[in-house]
Amino acid sequence: MARKIVMTSGKGGVGKTTVCCNLGVQLARLGYRVIVCDLDFGLNNADVALGVENLALYDLTDAVEGKCRPKQALTRHPRYPTLSVLPSNRVADRYVSPQAVRLILDSLAPQADFILLDSPAGIEEGFHRAASCAEEAILVTTPHVSAMRDADRVAGMLTNYRFSRTGLVVNLARKDMARRGDVLSPGEIASLLRVPLLGAVPEEDKLYLDNIAERSRPFREIASRLLGAETPVRRKLFCFGRKR
Ligand SMILES: Nc1ncnc2c1ncn2[C@@H]1O[C@H](COP(=O)(O)OP(=O)(O)O)[C@@H](O)[C@H]1O
Ligand SMILES: [Mg+2]
Repeated sequence: MARKIVMTSGKGGVGKTTVCCNLGVQLARLGYRVIVCDLDFGLNNADVALGVENLALYDLTDAVEGKCRPKQALTRHPRYPTLSVLPSNRVADRYVSPQAVRLILDSLAPQADFILLDSPAGIEEGFHRAASCAEEAILVTTPHVSAMRDADRVAGMLTNYRFSRTGLVVNLARKDMARRGDVLSPGEIASLLRVPLLGAVPEEDKLYLDNIAERSRPFREIASRLLGAETPVRRKLFCFGRKR
């Protein structure tokens, strides 16, 4: 039965979709059956990030409305056979209830190991719909003050969902600036938000080009922590301690 994990942040543009898709790729590379489910209705881009936007025949709303079976709404990734994308429709003109999404995901869960839910920015309906479909959460933030403030708000809201696990990913982490004390280190951000650190991702050139950094060590390490492997937290990479 799949672990359902929602990516959330409050603020837009901090890397939810990037983390969701790259994590999906890393888990699929390890042989796990992964469904990346896009719950960012209207502004969906997980299919684009994974390069399958032209392959999808149906989307989540089609499955909810009974136009196809849940399995038919999945687009299999041509490069990673155990990775599928469940896109949402580009036009958010049809209401999709959390219960309807849960039903679709529950019917797909026995055939997957992970269902990664990409959620929209904000703390409104879309956030709640995505959070209510998951059992675990990954909070994504950057070291920027505005992103951390939103993440703090979301971290508080996540406690209402009683997730079995919640982890933090600090995206666009800046080792150099953390060393100088110009920004908080990922470890400090995790303490501030009181969410265990799952990993930190620096700015990666590759992600500008095609969104997927297949050989990215940070995403590999986040995947292995998610799997429970007690990968020692590489202080150099993940807890950029300030020089004393
Ligand atoms: N670590 C990173 N390095 C380089 N570019 C990144 C990184 N993380 C995200 N991006 C880029 O930033 C933009 C916003 O990221 P995205 O994942 O779409 O944010 P969100 O889903 O939270 O709105 C995208 O163009 C993405 O490719
Ligand atoms: Mg997104």
